[in-house]
Amino acid sequence: MSPTPWNRRHPALVPYTSDHHHGLAESRRLKLAAGGGAAERVAAASRFCAFFREDAARHFADEEAHLLPALMDKGLAERAMMVTILEEHIELRELVDELARGARAGDVDAHLMRKVAGAFGAHIRLEERRLFPMLQRIAPAVLDSIA
Ligand SMILES: [Fe+2]
Ligand SMILES: [Fe+2]
Repeated sequence: MSPTPWNRRHPALVPYTSDHHHGLAESRRLKLAAGGGAAERVAAASRFCAFFREDAARHFADEEAHLLPALMDKGLAERAMMVTILEEHIELRELVDELARGARAGDVDAHLMRKVAGAFGAHIRLEERRLFPMLQRIAPAVLDSIA
């Protein structure tokens, strides 16, 4: 298969990009609710944690199992990207755990909500702007094999 043009997603990445749109919408919702009262903050944090449990956790695991290994035997920039993505996954899992603890206790810190929303959005943008174009450029055969 010929290389996917830079401005078009490889078919194997389309479901990931679709998840990213959903993730950005959930992040925006969480950030907006940070300005609300205690009950609104708890409800929004609970909703975001449910989204993470039911959708994002599987998305992260799929990226780690199917996409990131394609960067392992490449150059320094590719391996650095793999490490960055893994570190961000770990950080996001920890931040969401903290959010869930707050929601269970009935007290969610607005600053934490903004931090989670910001980190989640930044992670998605990194993948869309740098990881996915990198995968399309250096590992088209891997993408073809999972499409
Ligand atoms: Fe990711
Ligand atoms: Fe992702």
